[in-house]
Amino acid sequence: MKENNNFNILALVDIATADLVRAAVESVGGCSLVVDGGESAIQTVQNGDIVDLVLLDPNAVSMATADGIAFLKAACPTCEIALLLGDHDITMDVELMRMGAYDSLPSPPSKAELVLLISGLMEKNEMERENRAMVEALGQGRAQTIISHSPEMEKVLSMAARAAKSDSTVLITGESGTGKELVARAIHLAGPRKHKAFVPVNIAALQENLIESELFGHVKGAFTGAMADRTGRFALADGGTLFIDEIGEVPSGIQVKLLRVLQFGSFERVGENAPHESDVRIIAATNRDLEAEVRAGRFRADLYYRVNVVPVSLPALRDHRGDIPYLVEYFIKKYSSKNRKPVKGITAEAMSRIMRYPFPGNVRELENVLERGVVLCRGEYLTETDIFLPTDDPREDNSMPTLSGGYDEVMGGFEKEFLSRVLERNAHNKSAAARELGINERRLRYRLKVLSLE
Ligand SMILES: Nc1ncnc2c1ncn2[C@@H]1O[C@H](COP(=O)(O)OP(=O)(O)O)[C@@H](O)[C@H]1O
Ligand SMILES: [Mg+2]
Repeated sequence: MKENNNFNILALVDIATADLVRAAVESVGGCSLVVDGGESAIQTVQNGDIVDLVLLDPNAVSMATADGIAFLKAACPTCEIALLLGDHDITMDVELMRMGAYDSLPSPPSKAELVLLISGLMEKNEMERENRAMVEALGQGRAQTIISHSPEMEKVLSMAARAAKSDSTVLITGESGTGKELVARAIHLAGPRKHKAFVPVNIAALQENLIESELFGHVKGAFTGAMADRTGRFALADGGTLFIDEIGEVPSGIQVKLLRVLQFGSFERVGENAPHESDVRIIAATNRDLEAEVRAGRFRADLYYRVNVVPVSLPALRDHRGDIPYLVEYFIKKYSSKNRKPVKGITAEAMSRIMRYPFPGNVRELENVLERGVVLCRGEYLTETDIFLPTDDPREDNSMPTLSGGYDEVMGGFEKEFLSRVLERNAHNKSAAARELGINERRLRYRLKVLSLE
């Protein structure tokens, strides 16, 4: 059993079942199969040969079930084990799954059940392989990776990995801080344009009257302040990838121009009538529900369909909490090495505090909390006192703005207090705060400026 690119199955079953397995394997294709009931099978596993699936009928090969699983898991940690169980064993199912069995089928199984099991596992293997390749592409030459251990994230990465291979437009959705930009870079680096530029542009961070020129460029004298020609992002990204962050914030007048580039690859600089061409792959991101924006008439339906070719939707951190311990470990390593501090880990109490917190600011908020923790930490382990999380109960904070003075002064006091709390809750991430407030980020920034909170 040596073929590395095949799906390798080892069947420890009796002769009658072996025929069934053979038939199933033939109809799936792409698998190699070793059927064995005896000692040499055990050798195969112990030799470290690549086995992807072990079909184990404990009654046929005199392996007591629990011991059999323990032995196989120790000899071959990456292989999956499916048990063929008689009626009398079925009650043990849950326990066996907990010990690391992947699935169980009745003994003897039907061919259809076997086909389903094998093809399902082959798909899962392929997905994990692609995900690893994409994440490795991101890590090459830079200290960046995507932490993903939960099924929710694996699914997302699988979509992204498939998207990466093509040149199609990708729309990444997800709350602020969920890793949209990180995934966008990974898609670019794992795709056909990896040696060309990745040009990001964040629409929410731009003043409205500058968006068009930022995207398409302008000619000297196109508007007041246009002192010289300027190359836009579309031209800069020619041959590569343009990452349009917060595409939901593109004003309607510019949406139609964006649609035109996406359709025909041509655009005009501000203040000029000559068309320019650009060959770009578009990856767009938004923390808005674009479909709802379309229904509300704020986003063009035709542009939405052009952009939403391959949708990749990142889960909020609270919906894949299983990744938190891995992210914590990763960020502690990252910031202890960056700050040259000998922080090795985190205490159980501090970890449990983190696990209970909802993280409205998602991974970005978690990262900020840990960076701060590492900087403050005096020992080898982060303790509860190093972990600053906003209180979950706003009533604990009873500071009240003053109620006397002029109208503007009092209302301004309220607004200031309100906005600072929302910002605090969102780890000072303005787009997350704006979303919680139901206003756009530009408006929030404007209010912060007016209230001199920035
Ligand atoms: N799965 C992840 N693994 C490692 N780091 C992550 C992950 N998701 C997000 N991050 C980090 O969190 C921060 C926010 O991610 P970013 O991609 O900017 O989020 P978004 O664009 O959705 O607001 C970045 O520093 C990013 O590297
Ligand atoms: Mg972002």
